[in-house]
Amino acid sequence: MTLRVIAIDGPAGSGKSTVARALAERLDLEYLDTGAMYRSVAFAALRVDVDPSDGEAVAALTLALTIEVDSGVVAVDGVDASIEIRGPEVTRAVSVVAANPVVRRDMRDRQRAWAEKRGGGVIEGRDIGTVVFPDAVLKVYLTADAEARAGRRAQEVTNLDYETVAADIARRDALDQGRADSPLVEATDAVVIDTTDRSVDHIVDEVLDRLSAAEAAR
Ligand code: DC
Repeated sequence: MTLRVIAIDGPAGSGKSTVARALAERLDLEYLDTGAMYRSVAFAALRVDVDPSDGEAVAALTLALTIEVDSGVVAVDGVDASIEIRGPEVTRAVSVVAANPVVRRDMRDRQRAWAEKRGGGVIEGRDIGTVVFPDAVLKVYLTADAEARAGRRAQEVTNLDYETVAADIARRDALDQGRADSPLVEATDAVVIDTTDRSVDHIVDEVLDRLSAAEAAR
C-alpha cells in the first residue's frame, strides 16, 4: 500500500509545527511531531540521571521506552511530559541524544509504524523526506532568516531572552546539520519555502497546490 505521507523538514523556528498542523487539518490527516519523540528520549534520560552523551546507556533506555504522541500530549512511559519536553534542560540535551544512531534507528522504525497504521500523515522533523520517508508524496523544506527563527522561538519560551534563544538555535542547527547519522539537509526533490515574511495561510495554500500537482503526476 502506498502511504500518503507529507514530509515537513527544516531547522528550529522555521515554522514546521504551525504549517504541519494547519496542513493536517486541511487534509484531514493526522500529524506527527518527531522532534517531540527525540525530546521524549532526552527527557527520559534526564529523569533517571543518565548522561545524554552516554551512548550505550541512552540506547538501552530508548529501546525500553514507551512514547505516545497524541494531539499535542506527549506521554513518556505513561507520564505526561508535554510541558517538560519543551523546557531548557531537555532542549539543551536533545541534540546529542538525536545524534545517537541507535536512538535514530528506533525512532525511524516507530515513525514508519505510526504512518503505516494510519495510511500516512503529515510528519515534521529533520530527516523525514531524506531518510524516514524517501518516497513521501510531497517533501517540504521550510527555512527562515536566523533572526526570524530566533524571534519566533523567543516568543514561545517566555522565560528566556532573545540572545539566549538565538545562541541555542545556532548551537542546535550546527549539531543537527553536522551529525554523521541523517543530518538536517534539504532533500534534492523537496519544495523549499522561505517562511520569513509569509503568512501561514499562504504557505499552506502553496503546499496544497504542490501536493495536488504531485499527486496528479503519480
Ligand atoms: O523540532 P524540535 O526542535 O522539537 O526537535 C528537537 C530536536 O530533535 C532537534 O534539535 C533535532 C532533533 N530531531 C531530529 O534529529 N530528527 C527529527 N526528525 C526531529 C527532530
